[in-house]
Amino acid sequence: MAIRRIGVLTSGGDAPGMNPCIRAVVRTAASYGVAVSGIEGGFDGLVKGKVRDLRPRDVGNVLQQGGTFLQTARCEEMHDVKGRRQVLRQAAEADLDALVVIGGDGSMAGAHALAEQGLAVVGVPASIDNDIWGTNMAIGVDTALNTIMEAVDKLRDTASSHQRAFLVETMGRNSGYLAMMAGVICGADVILIPEVDATLPEVETAVEDAYSRGKTHALVIVAEGAKLETGRVAEHLTAADVGFESRVTILGHIQRGGRPSAFDRLLASRLGVAAVEELRAGRDGTMVALQGREISTVPIAEVVRHQRTANTAYYDMAKILAR
Ligand code: F6P
Repeated sequence: MAIRRIGVLTSGGDAPGMNPCIRAVVRTAASYGVAVSGIEGGFDGLVKGKVRDLRPRDVGNVLQQGGTFLQTARCEEMHDVKGRRQVLRQAAEADLDALVVIGGDGSMAGAHALAEQGLAVVGVPASIDNDIWGTNMAIGVDTALNTIMEAVDKLRDTASSHQRAFLVETMGRNSGYLAMMAGVICGADVILIPEVDATLPEVETAVEDAYSRGKTHALVIVAEGAKLETGRVAEHLTAADVGFESRVTILGHIQRGGRPSAFDRLLASRLGVAAVEELRAGRDGTMVALQGREISTVPIAEVVRHQRTANTAYYDMAKILAR
């Protein structure tokens, strides 16, 4: 069946680069004479019929904006059959031949459930957590890392001036990706991630070592999902008298905002184009992905079946480089 109208939505936590991706979907579809409906507020918006036409001029000036102008939500209805049926009914009502879902692992699970019920769906990975199996990078990760790097560089200035140990907590839910990469690019003495077990005495020794080696500061990067909670580590370091005074900074949602980086704009554009090309070629039930330097596709069924694991080579690398 030739595709005449594609729906596009952003779902789950926003990620910088979602806007350039929507833009790429709209303009690529237009180049083939295919109409696009923008769905506001994720799957929930589809249930509520919040659908409007998106033409090439409607996506002008969004390339450089963070967040998602279509807005996003985590949709409870998608967790049960009744809700998903409602989504399918509304997709038919809106005359959609296919749906492009831009979002994280939960959104890919939603997309997969709809694909299983016969809707032509293509997923686009977007989440700062980089926890989606099948793609090297998701949209938003690079911008988030740049935000973390900028913040930690600033914290290092004050940490060095006062001879302090800074504990910086990054986002990532159950994934240590952001913390681990930030550890490498910001020169952390200790990285605490959910994927690697660590004890309080180990952290204490590493920070104390940094002090006795004459470092002017120590940096501990903690993933929000790490087993050792940030505040507890700070208390332990204070009680253990490791040389440095300790301070905690929780970066929080600042990591999700901001103008998408050059890398994210390019990745988002390439993935958006690829999602439309995929549907035009008559393929669906897939997620477009970055593999090596190429854009490729993976079945969404595989994406939801696998859990992305951390490449702990970076963890080991950070340890060596912290000497
Ligand atoms: O999935 C992205 C993410 O920012 C996670 O890193 C974090 O755990 C979660 O979303 C926060 O969600 P919310 O914005 O709903 O508080």
